[in-house]
Amino acid sequence: MVIKLLNRETRIRFCGLNDLTSTWPTQAYVVADENVQDLHGAAWSDYNTITVPPGEESKSWEETGRIVRELIREGADRRSAVVALGGGVVGDLAGFAAAVLMRGINLIQVPTTLLAMVDSSVGGKTGIDLPEGKNLAGSFWPAAEVTVVPEVLKTLPKSQWLNGSAEVWKYGAIMDRAFFEELEGSPISGDLDQAERIVRKCIELKADVVQKDEFETTGLRAILNFGHTVGHSIEWAQNYQGLAHGEAVSVGMVAEARLGEELKITPAGTAERLRRALKMQGLPVDVPTELDPQELIQAMRRDKKAVDGGLAFSLLEDLGACKLFRDVSSDEVCKVLTAP
Ligand SMILES: NC(=O)c1ccc[n+]([C@@H]2O[C@H](COP(=O)([O-])OP(=O)(O)OC[C@H]3O[C@@H](n4cnc5c(N)ncnc54)[C@H](O)[C@@H]3O)[C@@H](O)[C@H]2O)c1
Ligand SMILES: [Zn+2]
Repeated sequence: MVIKLLNRETRIRFCGLNDLTSTWPTQAYVVADENVQDLHGAAWSDYNTITVPPGEESKSWEETGRIVRELIREGADRRSAVVALGGGVVGDLAGFAAAVLMRGINLIQVPTTLLAMVDSSVGGKTGIDLPEGKNLAGSFWPAAEVTVVPEVLKTLPKSQWLNGSAEVWKYGAIMDRAFFEELEGSPISGDLDQAERIVRKCIELKADVVQKDEFETTGLRAILNFGHTVGHSIEWAQNYQGLAHGEAVSVGMVAEARLGEELKITPAGTAERLRRALKMQGLPVDVPTELDPQELIQAMRRDKKAVDGGLAFSLLEDLGACKLFRDVSSDEVCKVLTAP
């Protein structure tokens, strides 16, 4: 499969670990998550490798600067490629380093978490966090190649499978009812053949959206944000120490489906169906009771989709169809946040 973004092509390739490096240029520089390096590094031991500590804290100016300087010292130039080998953290960080090094050098994304395979490695967004907030500095820098190696998922902890699974269900809910129904029949189990099929499907769905709205100008790309307005507010209110991203998005999808029902946009019964499905997958579905709805709403006003403090949500017009809606009243939002 080939995706076209920013007038450049991203080739999507599926392969085994033994075949991983076959398309790399001689001057490929790997930036790898320490965990991934320990578990799978033998597969790229011939290549220069910079490791980064696992975790969101690595998405910083300091790490970007360290990587860029090390790449230069190791001799990277415009013919080189940076290979981002890890989950979304390394994908965003190494992708950003590739985007700024000599005003941009080739990038190969090798996502190693389910979340990175179905979401962050495709679409061209790279970036880091600032003390003022997440993902506040970054660049659109699509990879020349995204290589998916399903067998690396063998070592992925269960919590990370769950984290990525919320995004998988999201694609079904917003774009593909048949896919959603398939997942209802067989939820994500950790089976690698199933994972490969799912990843292919999700990449196709995401590619379709991002190619039609590369820079988030038409509102179409915002459908990928379903569940995230509420989800992000929960993560923020819990200081990023509570629910994991996928868990917060799961809770957010149920709340936003309810909101859609309240507003007569989403067919009645959809929220309950989604709730049952996500619960069956093992994901949380209720807003943590200790959180103050008004505080969550304040956080939602700072969401990128919100204009002039008016609340905006991507809501389901049906199971498998989603659209961005603006000027949603905070009373309606409060109602669904406090619903039993
Ligand atoms: N650019 C985008 O479009 C986009 C989209 C969604 C999310 N993101 C970003 O992605 C990040 C989250 O990504 P993530 O969920 O992949 O988290 P992550 O990169 O932190 O990885 C999660 C954990 O899994 C470990 N790990 C990775 N691969 C493994 C493997 N194969 N086996 C065992 N352990 C493995 C890592 O060491 C880490 O501890 C966030 O920073 C988020 O902002 C970006
Ligand atoms: Zn997400």
